[in-house]
Amino acid sequence: MTKIRKMAVVLSALLFLLTSCKETKSMESAQEPTKVLPSLKSSFANSFYVGAAINESQIMEADDKGIAVINREFNTLTPENNMKWMYLQPTPNSFDFAFADKYVALGEKMDMFIVGHTLVWHSQLPDFMHSIKDSVAMADQIKNHINTVVGRYRGKIHAWDVVNEALNEDGSLRKSLFQQVFGDEYIEYAFQLAAEADPEAELIYNDYNLWKPEKRAGVVRLVKRLQAKGIKIDGVGMQAHWSLVGPTLEDIENSIIAYSELGVKVLFTELDVTALPNPWDAEGAEVSLSYEEYEGDPQMDPYRNGLPDSAQVKLAKRYQDLFKLFLKHEDKIDRVTFWGVNDGGSWLNGWPIKGRTNHPLLFDRDFAPKKAYTKVLALKEKDKVTYNQTTKQ
Ligand code: G3I
Repeated sequence: MTKIRKMAVVLSALLFLLTSCKETKSMESAQEPTKVLPSLKSSFANSFYVGAAINESQIMEADDKGIAVINREFNTLTPENNMKWMYLQPTPNSFDFAFADKYVALGEKMDMFIVGHTLVWHSQLPDFMHSIKDSVAMADQIKNHINTVVGRYRGKIHAWDVVNEALNEDGSLRKSLFQQVFGDEYIEYAFQLAAEADPEAELIYNDYNLWKPEKRAGVVRLVKRLQAKGIKIDGVGMQAHWSLVGPTLEDIENSIIAYSELGVKVLFTELDVTALPNPWDAEGAEVSLSYEEYEGDPQMDPYRNGLPDSAQVKLAKRYQDLFKLFLKHEDKIDRVTFWGVNDGGSWLNGWPIKGRTNHPLLFDRDFAPKKAYTKVLALKEKDKVTYNQTTKQ
């Protein structure tokens, strides 16, 4: 987080505390003093932003419990689906900004650091994009999309996932539609257009499994390539779709250091920790993977009736270890965003096996904070007030 932003966040947190203390004092004679409740955003205010990806019902403010958690806990938002190409431009040059406008207005109302997700990604493209066969037509499409979308939200969307998931697991360039039709330099082109459309926006390369040494090397090559050409890139977004056992903290730390040494910010953009069995090699977030043969298999879906204490403890320990590492490198890390607000809304209920009951986030299906939430907060709040909201221990 920039120094000025950090100071602003700390000042507003102090102001909030002062106001709360004042209010508490005036009520003291009438009732028991109320303790100020910590939250993720206030507790980590001098370290990094903490946020969540929000779904359509939250964007439309139709999810009261979700909105309450978002308001209380987070200071940055990402739209989980509503700003992807297929939704913003379903047919050529015909844009639908209804949900995106609402998303940005909500972010402004809540005083959030607003993220745009995502401009150029091979997945969730409208059908017409697949019929584009030559590089000139592809260049026109990319230019029109980025200019229109980034231009519309210039000065309002603070950071863009400009290019998403452009690398293979071995660090080579993915043979995506964009790479096949335009060539490798579609990445440079996208970043250049985004920088022109909003020179102030933070421009991010976003991908999963960025802890892997080979993929890490691919990101380092990619960022250096852009930098050598004088193209603006401000950050690397590590998606962080992880499990209870992997990746190792060492691999994550090595990536934090490697990306930071490039002079760009490190962001954790899509954090979740699956609590379910995943005995294959389905790491990360390759959306084309699916294991239909396991659908309905109770062994693959052991926590349909809730996460037992033993598993809550493991999840809490994993989250606490991860946040300890993030705090160790808070000078390099600008943002930690969870991929979803609560367990019920997580995409991991449907991937890589459909119809399971997963528990990967800090808030359960009733939006109550889990033990993992308490353990994460405890890293900052251990010497402060006792958290007096109901938590699942
Ligand atoms: O909107 C339709 C709905 O009308 C229809 O009834 C329903 C039936 O399946 O599908 C709905 O669309 C789904 C959409 O999410 C909205 O819920 C799609 O099928 C489903 O494929 C889509 O999944 C999203 C996935 O990206 C698609 O690639 C997930 O919600 C979303 O969390 C996920 O997010 C990605 C990031 O953008 C990039 N990184 C990986 C991450 C996880 O895959």
